[in-house]
Amino acid sequence: MPVISHAPDTGIWLLSTPRTSYALRIDATGAPCHIAWGPRLTLEEAAELAVPAGPDASSFEGRSPVGEELPVDGGARFGPPSLQVRFADGTRAFEWQPVGHDVREPAPGAAELSLRFRDRVHPLEVTLRYRVHDDSDVIERHTVLRNAGDRSITVLRADSAAWSLPPLPDYRLSHVTGQWSAESQLRRDRLPYGETLLTSRRGITSHHANPWVMLDAGDATETHGRVWSAALAWSGSWRITAQRTPDGRAGFTGGAGHDGTSVPLAPGEEFTTPGFAAVCTDGGFGAASRAWHAHTLAHVLPHPWETAPVLYNSWEATGFDVDEQGQRALAARAAALGVELYVVDDGWFGARRDDRAGLGDWAPAADRFPSGLAPLSDEVHRLGMRFGLWVEPEMVNPDSDLYREHPDWVLHVPDRTRTELRNQLVLNFARQDVADWAYDWLTRLVAKNGVDFLKWDMNRAFSEAGWPGRDDGADRLWTRYVHNLYGVIDRLRADHPQLRIESCSGGGGRVDLGILSRTDQAWPSDNTDAADRVAIQHGYGQVYPARTMAAWVTDVPNQLTHRTVPLRFRFHVAMAGLLGIGGDLTRWSEEELAEGAELVAGYKRVRHLVQHGALHRLRGPGDEGPTVVEYAAHDGSEALVLAWQRVQRHGGPRGPVRLGGLTPGARYRDTRTGTVHHATVLDGYGLSLDLPPGDWASSAVHLVRLAERDGA
Ligand code: GLA
Repeated sequence: MPVISHAPDTGIWLLSTPRTSYALRIDATGAPCHIAWGPRLTLEEAAELAVPAGPDASSFEGRSPVGEELPVDGGARFGPPSLQVRFADGTRAFEWQPVGHDVREPAPGAAELSLRFRDRVHPLEVTLRYRVHDDSDVIERHTVLRNAGDRSITVLRADSAAWSLPPLPDYRLSHVTGQWSAESQLRRDRLPYGETLLTSRRGITSHHANPWVMLDAGDATETHGRVWSAALAWSGSWRITAQRTPDGRAGFTGGAGHDGTSVPLAPGEEFTTPGFAAVCTDGGFGAASRAWHAHTLAHVLPHPWETAPVLYNSWEATGFDVDEQGQRALAARAAALGVELYVVDDGWFGARRDDRAGLGDWAPAADRFPSGLAPLSDEVHRLGMRFGLWVEPEMVNPDSDLYREHPDWVLHVPDRTRTELRNQLVLNFARQDVADWAYDWLTRLVAKNGVDFLKWDMNRAFSEAGWPGRDDGADRLWTRYVHNLYGVIDRLRADHPQLRIESCSGGGGRVDLGILSRTDQAWPSDNTDAADRVAIQHGYGQVYPARTMAAWVTDVPNQLTHRTVPLRFRFHVAMAGLLGIGGDLTRWSEEELAEGAELVAGYKRVRHLVQHGALHRLRGPGDEGPTVVEYAAHDGSEALVLAWQRVQRHGGPRGPVRLGGLTPGARYRDTRTGTVHHATVLDGYGLSLDLPPGDWASSAVHLVRLAERDGA
């Protein structure tokens, strides 16, 4: 059971999850301070850790920059503030005054603690919220700020939470970096002394960094060691600052907004920060990832237990050259291959013949779809598939009717260039009229054309992020934009409960727990090269579950890398996520179509393991030899092992890989060969992969536990 308990004598609050505890208390100055975060504790045990500053605490130093629940700008604090405010009279510091607390049960199996404070003098109220669940070790935190006065307050920094680690001999930071078509590259480096800033200043989550961190003592492996990790549920600009202090401590603070942005708080206004959840796990990076995957399925995704359909997307096949006839031909072939969801990508609307025109004019192009989209949608449905459409509601090409009519609707600053990226400008979704316009055409589009799925794209970062005509617009827009984006998606979903949505942003520019709480899957990268994709998927899966990870099989030579990889290998890589097909099926040979159909059918037999099982990364892309992942059923009844060997080196490692998640003592049958294996061997000694010789060897091994009587 998740338990939140309190000891009035020591002032300690103890939050317990199935395997961990988190302890804090309010100190003599009124500030909320961290005590412990690790394996389960009782209140009495936590009290032992709540040691007052020792005899060597120096009056020269001030407060430690690590160890408070939300270090403010104020008093003798010199680290990066999690909360920094400027009151109307120019006062800039915050002084904590506790005003109350409560514990409630927001949902069955969950408990939430609210600690309420205000500034000692000024009318700013601050509430720290902590939520724990009985089926997850993830602790969810956010902060609520409220201006209780009659003059404006500027919040220069409003982090969601600060997290403190125990003193460790060393610290290592894991995170991802990237760029367009090379997202989610996993980095694992010693945490330097000082401050390490991870951020997006682009208005979106970004391809370049992703708002999560993992910290360990430098000795964790995939299967061993304690890892503390956190992920921010926010789809706009963000900042996480990790710090390591000279006295051997480390922690991190994070929230929405980047340096230089602020949150204006009008009288009576409230600002709720995004959630910044965190988890402490034993069992290495693998266990940390599985904790995030399980939590995302249990508490983030709207429809986690649905089986995601096999998808076809026309983008790499046709580019912008989309018309009804061509799409019908592709749809017929896709259906024959076993595809269950057919998605028409960019190019179906307005004057969209390339990326220079048409964005913003969301009516089907009359020359390409003379009777609108309904006939194609009907045909796709007749073929037994669902119908999906690409949209990019937040964007406009200057060469569009929308822009000619509403040039003031874009983010802009008077007298400044309106910088174009991909020949487009960003519509100011912070404006309610713009958000309402988007909701209006989207809900009509979905209703009129039987749209089952939207690929919601967002292809460029903000620039000249201004909101002329509104005094505090340039500050307000960073958060208002994201809230309005969420609002449009929420309204659409409410109107169309059957609608499923994919988050895309020039590939993987908008993947985070915020967008995943209102969409169903994400497009991790525009790079569909199977070899590159192995590393991208490796980074993506550190936090985000395979249930959200769209993956297409596309044609070779790959459009981006010009690399040629066998069809089977491409399928086996895409089968590690939500399998999709993105090739030009009118050019696939009969043999390719037959092999493709067989592989699609094979995926359908194991996708419950991929989409809902537990991921074990058995060998990473950095290791020599094949990269190997396993998806095991939570009850140990089945497992799927996918192996990808890019290049063979004579004399290179070919040894067996040890599996995880099996039932001890059970026996498993390989469904393809009929070979029976003992779990004791698979777990303790390993499975021989028997990859065919040569480069680009791959395999998919499906193991099913034998019933007792089969093994007799
Ligand atoms: C982005 C997406 C692609 C495709 C194009 C269409 O780049 O990530 O998958 O939809 O836009 O313009």
